[in-house]
Amino acid sequence: MHDLPFRLKGEVVKGFGRGGKELGIPTANFSDYVVDNCLPKSIQQGIYFGWASLNGKRPPLKMVTSVGWNPFYQNTKRSIETHILQHFEEDFYGEELRIVCVGYIRDEADFESVEELIGAIQKDIEVSRKALEENFSHFKEDNFLFDEGDTSRN
Ligand SMILES: Cc1cc2nc3c(=O)[nH]c(=O)nc-3n(C[C@H](O)[C@H](O)[C@H](O)COP(=O)(O)O)c2cc1C
Repeated sequence: MHDLPFRLKGEVVKGFGRGGKELGIPTANFSDYVVDNCLPKSIQQGIYFGWASLNGKRPPLKMVTSVGWNPFYQNTKRSIETHILQHFEEDFYGEELRIVCVGYIRDEADFESVEELIGAIQKDIEVSRKALEENFSHFKEDNFLFDEGDTSRN
């Protein structure tokens, strides 16, 4: 189902900046190039969880990623937005993000209020944390995430 896992890497660009400011849930957005060219055609919009890395380096990081048009904000362009499940002081603009999406949680939804959207995302985060610890921990060693994987372990 949903062609999982799928893998993406690319530069982090500025989104609308609402994630951190309005929702308190910062997201790293992939560039339009990645959105338009690198997503497998069969991938449907929705919320996925998996592992991430920054600049091909360890440690592997737990993440949850939203793929789609953000119906709550009625975006006209599709986006891929990754929230890393730990706090970082700085944003990741210009850095290389790699993700391995291993599980699907739900479709994107519209909500009555921003609080409901935040509640849904917080639930996604908890579902992801649990699934990644209990059932999908082996994917954190996926070669795609690390520079060292390019030359070794084939
Ligand atoms: C785990 C997760 C779940 C999300 N679910 C939805 C959703 O159901 N509906 C929606 O409109 N946006 C959803 N979003 C997208 C947020 O609305 C988006 O990240 C926020 O608007 C920040 O966008 P920006 O970086 O372009 O400012 C989700 C984002 C994440 C990280």
